[in-house]
Amino acid sequence: MNTVFKNAKRLMEDGSLEQCELKVEKGNITTIAPIVPENGDDVIDCNGRLLLPGFVDVHVHLREPGGEHKETIATGTKAAARGGFTTICAMPNTNPVPDNPETVVELLEKVKQNAAVRVLPYVSITEGLKGEKLTDIENLSQMSVFAFTDDGVGVQTADQMLEAMSQAAANGNPVVAHCEDNSLVYEGVVHQGEISTRMNLPGIPSVSESVQIARDVLLAEVTDCHYHVCHVSTKESVRVIRDAKKAGIQVTAEVTPHHLLLNEHAITADDANFKMNPPLRSPEDQEALLEGLLDGTIDCIATDHAPHAESEKVSGFRTAPFGITGLETAFPLLYTYFVRTGKINLKQLVDWLTIKPAGIFQLPYGRLEEGGVADFTLVSFDEENKVDRNALYSKGKNTPFHGWTVRGIPSMTVVNGDIVYKEDAHD
Ligand code: DOR
Repeated sequence: MNTVFKNAKRLMEDGSLEQCELKVEKGNITTIAPIVPENGDDVIDCNGRLLLPGFVDVHVHLREPGGEHKETIATGTKAAARGGFTTICAMPNTNPVPDNPETVVELLEKVKQNAAVRVLPYVSITEGLKGEKLTDIENLSQMSVFAFTDDGVGVQTADQMLEAMSQAAANGNPVVAHCEDNSLVYEGVVHQGEISTRMNLPGIPSVSESVQIARDVLLAEVTDCHYHVCHVSTKESVRVIRDAKKAGIQVTAEVTPHHLLLNEHAITADDANFKMNPPLRSPEDQEALLEGLLDGTIDCIATDHAPHAESEKVSGFRTAPFGITGLETAFPLLYTYFVRTGKINLKQLVDWLTIKPAGIFQLPYGRLEEGGVADFTLVSFDEENKVDRNALYSKGKNTPFHGWTVRGIPSMTVVNGDIVYKEDAHD
């Protein structure tokens, strides 16, 4: 059946809003123009809401297989749909790790059975994320693998990263890196700075991240590999990436909503909902991240959605696992605290969540166009809500944003022409 979405608005290139009607046939957008529905068409009234391209998140932890008490493919993708995300890229720090053709096929099968939105799984750079033996990058590249990463841990030696980049480049795939030099981490649990001193907690120095990015951009240069940096958190990292881009090195980078919205001073108690890796850094770092986004050094926003069980997070900063949930809060928080305050405009935010991340990996998503895939999200700007950790669809309730006031709530999400999320109140 064909579906006509009537009475919507869309965001134009120049940032203006325009009335819009859209027809979907067999998962694709066939028409964006005034439409006279035909007999048998399903007609959906969008109530004047803004219809945006579906958001694309290139950094999500779904936990399945192996960590189903934290999240499953079903719960994580429902959370994604509720957050307006239509394509998400799943990190490989699961058990087993997708590091060989069998585990990749099994994972793709689980995704097919359970996912509410499109999931593109990353494959690991090293077997079991152990940093010992490279995966069979050539062979795995023949499968529908779009990028390799050991996210959760850094690749510790330059020779291993050099070899991984050479092989990935030869097979036309990017290498995506969590940058962390273990020899500089000193078992830290927060940023090494004012708060680590005040709370007497072991600190993670900024240089543990930036030193590895500096190494890797040089390796990307000699291997001609596309190198993508995960969750940039320090001003020095931004500077290294900016310089590498100027030098013509193929580097792209992402920043999380929490590193944009918060800094170490948000930590006022031993509450592990503020514990993530990389940690919340200084106000100067936070400022540099926004500057990096605005000048194009950082290419996109990615959530690093990292759900953990309540029982794991209650133990406090010293022992709780790193990570916070992000899929359901990303757009409303960034819209409320960055667009509404005038720090950025809506077009910039939408681009950093759609066309920019899709463009990094040449994915055919993140835009609204005739002939394109019918992935979109309707957003309501009318009412004010409060982030409620207990109401999250994600199994992970570990958010530092509980109680924050937000506007700009996704009210319907469509993937491949199918409605995968609809806010009850707007039925
Ligand atoms: O905070 C984080 N959580 N950072 C990571 O690198 C891993 C992630 C996780 O898997 O929980």
